[in-house]
Amino acid sequence: MNQDELKQKVAEAAIEYVVPGTVIGIGTGSTANLFIDELAKIKGRIEGTVASSVASTERLKGHGIPVYELNDVDEVSVYIDGADEATRHLHLIKGGGGALTREKIVAAVAKKFVCIADGSKLVDVLGNFPLPVEVIPMARSYVARELSKLGGRPELRAGFTTDNGNVILDVHDLQIMEPAKLEAQINNLAGVVTVGIFALRPADVLLLGTADGVHKLG
Ligand code: 5RP
Repeated sequence: MNQDELKQKVAEAAIEYVVPGTVIGIGTGSTANLFIDELAKIKGRIEGTVASSVASTERLKGHGIPVYELNDVDEVSVYIDGADEATRHLHLIKGGGGALTREKIVAAVAKKFVCIADGSKLVDVLGNFPLPVEVIPMARSYVARELSKLGGRPELRAGFTTDNGNVILDVHDLQIMEPAKLEAQINNLAGVVTVGIFALRPADVLLLGTADGVHKLG
C-alpha cells in the first residue's frame, strides 16, 4: 500500500470515534481531508463540526456538513486530525499545513483528540520534520534569533500567511528530547502565537496506518 492508501485506512478507522449527535472537531491536511470525505457518508448522525482551517471549512461545507464557530458551541466531543510526526508517547509535531494555532485551540477544547497518520509519521524523537512556529509578523526576526539560541535553524516559510494573518518559521535541526519543556519555552517567547509541538496536550489516541493494518496507540 502506498502512503495515500494508508491515510485512507486511518481515515476510515477514525469514523468509529465519531460520537453521534455531537459537534466533531476537524483538523487540516490530506489525512483530515480523507476523514472529511468519510464523515460525509454519515453526516446525518452528527450535529455538526468545528474546523481548524478555512480549507477544511470549505471542504466540509462542500459536503453539506454544518460548520459552527467554535465560540458558538459548548462542547466538542472529539477532535480528529493528522500530524507531521508522532511518538509512542502521543507527542506530536503539527503545522506542516500552517493551521497549527487553530488546531491547538480545537484540540484544547475537545474531550478526546484522535490523531490519524500513516505509519511513516511515527518517530522515536521529534524534530526531523522542521518545527513550525506561528509568529506575529513584526516579531519574526527577534523570534528567529531566539530559536537559533535554542539550537534550531529557523527558516521563514516563503510566500505563506496563516489563516490568522501571521507568518511561519520552520525550525530545522532540532532534536526534541523534552517536548513539553520546549513547547512551554517557545510559547513563552514574545511574538510567538503557537509552536507546533503538541505535548502539553498530546493526542489521546494515535491511529497509525501500516501495511499490516491500522494500529492503535493510547
Ligand atoms: C496541518 C497539520 C497536518 O495535520 C499535518 O501537516 C499532516 O498533514 P497530512 O495529513 O497532509 O500528512 O498539522 O497544519
